[in-house]
Amino acid sequence: MRTLFSLRGRRREFLAERLLSADAAALSSLHADGFARPWSDGEFAALLDQETVFGFAAREVGRPGAAPGGFVLARQAAGEGEILTLVVAPALRRCGLGWLLMDAVLRELYAQRAEALFLEVDETNRAAVALYRKLGFSQVGARPAYYAQKTAPRTAALVMRRDLV
Ligand SMILES: CC(C)(COP(=O)(O)OP(=O)(O)OC[C@H]1O[C@@H](n2cnc3c(N)ncnc32)[C@H](O)[C@@H]1OP(=O)(O)O)[C@@H](O)C(=O)NCCC(=O)NCCS
Repeated sequence: MRTLFSLRGRRREFLAERLLSADAAALSSLHADGFARPWSDGEFAALLDQETVFGFAAREVGRPGAAPGGFVLARQAAGEGEILTLVVAPALRRCGLGWLLMDAVLRELYAQRAEALFLEVDETNRAAVALYRKLGFSQVGARPAYYAQKTAPRTAALVMRRDLV
């Protein structure tokens, strides 16, 4: 799976490649760009060591040493998948990398004959909710006052599901 786009006059091509334990430091740095409470290198390393956890990095073709443009981490257990986190570098958003990464997870779960993919998303996260709806997820529940906000009242987590069968 690959995505090709032009950004500020330069053609760029990204591939979804499987995450490795060695990616932990790059993931924590990217994660800090997407979330108020970043996860540490150690947390990513521990997650990547778990047998049920897998993920993909969006790597730029022709730039093997460069940091990934984004990544997704997921878990599969008992025939169901769950998205643990998804982040695209701010400068590369709205170029198709989020779609590329989610598509890689969906393909992997199809191959493993999983039945459904679940995720939780902040109700106020318009970009992520739009991406998930476009990918065929629908809301199946909500956890009220789930996410703390710096200045605003707590917001709900939407629980979303995408059938795979
Ligand atoms: C959510 C996120 C991963 C989306 O990644 P992305 O690479 O920008 O998304 P894509 O370019 O693949 O977008 C695919 C579709 O999603 C929707 N979408 C993505 N960003 C959007 C935005 N800012 N506003 C509205 N719709 C959006 C659109 O339908 C888009 O298709 P289009 O560009 O043809 O209209 C990215 O914004 C991000 O990293 N946010 C911070 C971390 C985060 O919120 N992660 C999700 C936690 S659950």
